[in-house]
Amino acid sequence: MVKVLNCKAYGPPESLVLEDVPPAAVGRGEVRVKLHAAGVNFPDVLIIQGKYQFKPELPFAPGGEAAGVITEVGEKVENYSPGDKVIVMTGWGAFAEEIVVSEDRLAALPPGMSFEEGSAFLLTYATSYHALKQRGRLQEGETLLVLGAAGGVGLATVELGKAMGARVIAGVSTDEKAAIAKAHGADEVIVYGREKLRDRLKELAPTGVDVVYDPVGGDFSEQALRSIAWKGRFLVIGFASGPIPSIPLNLALLKGCEIVGVFWGAFTAREPDVHRENVSELVQLFEAEKIRPMVSKTYPLAEGGQAIRDMMDRKVTGKVVVTM
Ligand SMILES: NC(=O)c1ccc[n+]([C@@H]2O[C@H](COP(=O)([O-])OP(=O)(O)OC[C@H]3O[C@@H](n4cnc5c(N)ncnc54)[C@H](OP(=O)(O)O)[C@@H]3O)[C@@H](O)[C@H]2O)c1
Repeated sequence: MVKVLNCKAYGPPESLVLEDVPPAAVGRGEVRVKLHAAGVNFPDVLIIQGKYQFKPELPFAPGGEAAGVITEVGEKVENYSPGDKVIVMTGWGAFAEEIVVSEDRLAALPPGMSFEEGSAFLLTYATSYHALKQRGRLQEGETLLVLGAAGGVGLATVELGKAMGARVIAGVSTDEKAAIAKAHGADEVIVYGREKLRDRLKELAPTGVDVVYDPVGGDFSEQALRSIAWKGRFLVIGFASGPIPSIPLNLALLKGCEIVGVFWGAFTAREPDVHRENVSELVQLFEAEKIRPMVSKTYPLAEGGQAIRDMMDRKVTGKVVVTM
């Protein structure tokens, strides 16, 4: 039997149930992976409440990405063998001791990367890299504002922004999170709550910021858009604070700027070749020690619900990971 932390009815993290289920069969083109670690991401908060873009059939386990070792391969699997260490992009289902997935959901675990780091790598860094490179066209020397900069995608964006040669301004909610953003390369940090985002941005970037990366939403989005430079790019990533803001569209006109949606999951399905290229560039950045996932805490599988609760309560910095 396989231990799985199941969502049996949409609800809070406390309603997840640790169960023993029979192992799934391995079909054509599929592999079985013994999971060592699963990354926790904001979509896990939403998916167990039935509030995410995808609504898997109940019961299902949360967990959109993981790392482990292949234990079995099905017919027609071409690129992997038992014993290979891999990163698995699951969408959901990774809060489990093992998973069966098609081989196109795998990437090799880069040498020197732990299972914990591997399980916390692609969803954040590949989202942010796609956002900055293809959607934001971030150029060396430009100014990048990152909101929620000490969170999962936020911290990855701070590191990537620096690796791409930008000046990075980080927005965070506490001094502890400010220190983390600084330690990961932010040139300046704004602690919103203590100082008004718009006022401080006027001081730090009088001609405006070239690219805004916004995974937070709420009141911050409009303040950031009002601070954008001529021909700036405003990247719509997510709404971790809850409210989806309504933006006066005249701002886009006045700034001559672009408001650009980023949907990484759809991008990987629609443009798999560009995605693969992005992943290989991210592995090179990891090998060059320019990026490294910050795993701040691990939780045993049985406490996976607590990991999601801590993310909901804004207690998480960088990435947290469930281990099997
Ligand atoms: N578009 C895509 O393809 C894509 C891909 C991945 C993730 N996302 C989205 O990106 C967002 C972040 O995901 P994540 O996994 O990085 O989550 P996370 O680690 O929890 O980070 C979210 C950050 O948002 C900030 N935040 C939360 N509530 C806030 C509030 N009320 N006011 C201000 N800031 C608040 C928190 O920072 P502070 O506490 O410092 O404020 C936190 O660090 C989610 O909405 C997720 O769905 C989108």
